[in-house]
Amino acid sequence: MTAFKPLVFSGVQPTGNLHLGNYLGAIRRWVALQADHPCLFCVVDLHAITVWQEPADLERQIREVTAAFLASGIDAKKHILFNQSRVPEHAELAWIFNCIARLGWMNRMTQFKDKAGKDRENASLGLLAYPSLMAADILAYRATLVPVGEDQKQHLELTRDIAAKFNHDFADRIHDKGLGVPMTSIGDRESDDDTAQGYFPLTEPLIEGPATRIMSLKDGSKKMSKSDPSDLSRINLTDDADTISKKIRKAKTDPASLPSEPKGLAGRPEADNLVGIYAALADRTKAEILTEFGGRPFSEFKPVLADLAVEKLSPIADEMRRILADPAEIDRTLRDGAERARAIASQTLSDVKSIVGLLNN
Ligand code: AMP
Ligand code: TRP
Repeated sequence: MTAFKPLVFSGVQPTGNLHLGNYLGAIRRWVALQADHPCLFCVVDLHAITVWQEPADLERQIREVTAAFLASGIDAKKHILFNQSRVPEHAELAWIFNCIARLGWMNRMTQFKDKAGKDRENASLGLLAYPSLMAADILAYRATLVPVGEDQKQHLELTRDIAAKFNHDFADRIHDKGLGVPMTSIGDRESDDDTAQGYFPLTEPLIEGPATRIMSLKDGSKKMSKSDPSDLSRINLTDDADTISKKIRKAKTDPASLPSEPKGLAGRPEADNLVGIYAALADRTKAEILTEFGGRPFSEFKPVLADLAVEKLSPIADEMRRILADPAEIDRTLRDGAERARAIASQTLSDVKSIVGLLNN
């Protein structure tokens, strides 16, 4: 049996304006990965409806996120770009995973606790099962590499747990059907057993770079988020140049000037965040930025940061507007991507059904 091939999968929810955190923490890194690996990028609309979405807004946002991907440089011809609900195998595999994953695993998820809030009894069942659908997204393609921001680490660990339990519970069937793949081929860190085989790989999270956690412009202890009620807390990919400059000018800082080394950023979350944003946009390290700006006040640093942000982001916003002017073309792109995604996912589902004993011939 041949080894698992490196394959990239990632997703973004169409639940509101994409912001600088999504761009630096996710999309921009995906664009870079395209050069080395086959990639699947998914607009996860089924995840979006785990909390209420106004149907007309949802439709618009699915197209907007797709346009943002395309405008940022995702190549939908060479790779696969699609919306999740168009490939029914995701939901089908998620159901099987719901029967593998344990309730206790889901109850421990911090994102569920945060999103469900105090009124847990009133959260949707889908919100609790969310990580199981995410595991299905990834494992329907047996993807091995998943670039995400820091906040998704726990969900990816759960994806590994589901894959490992499936491989373990059905080990004999996987073997008997000849569907096993050597686990060493994906560098299974926990196992020193060269002969161990499994059907699903143990997915590796790719969480790296200076921008895995971009913070709110108004509060350095909160991550920049689509759901923050204050629009001043984030830079949206659709913001025009004036809006970007204004938001950076109004960003919270402390009264001290910039330190000359990264260790001087300790205990200064807002300063750390702005320096991190500059470093990520400029493709340089924080240390390099501080060598240049150390000792200067924020009143000097902010305008330079604003210019850089406008220079990097406004071409994307312009391109997004151009793409959004032709929604039919966006829909064609998504349909084409879904067709190609399905060709892979349906094979996985057919293997999984035969492993589990769901008659499927
Ligand atoms: P979401 O907005 O939750 O659908 O997230 C889409 C992607 O963007 C995921 O990979 C997240 O980890 C990443 N992401 C979201 N917010 C941030 C942030 N503030 N900083 C860095 N990455 C982020
Ligand atoms: N849960 C992820 C987020 O909110 C989005 C997501 C869904 C995803 N399925 C995925 C990310 C599969 C990576 C792989 O950011």
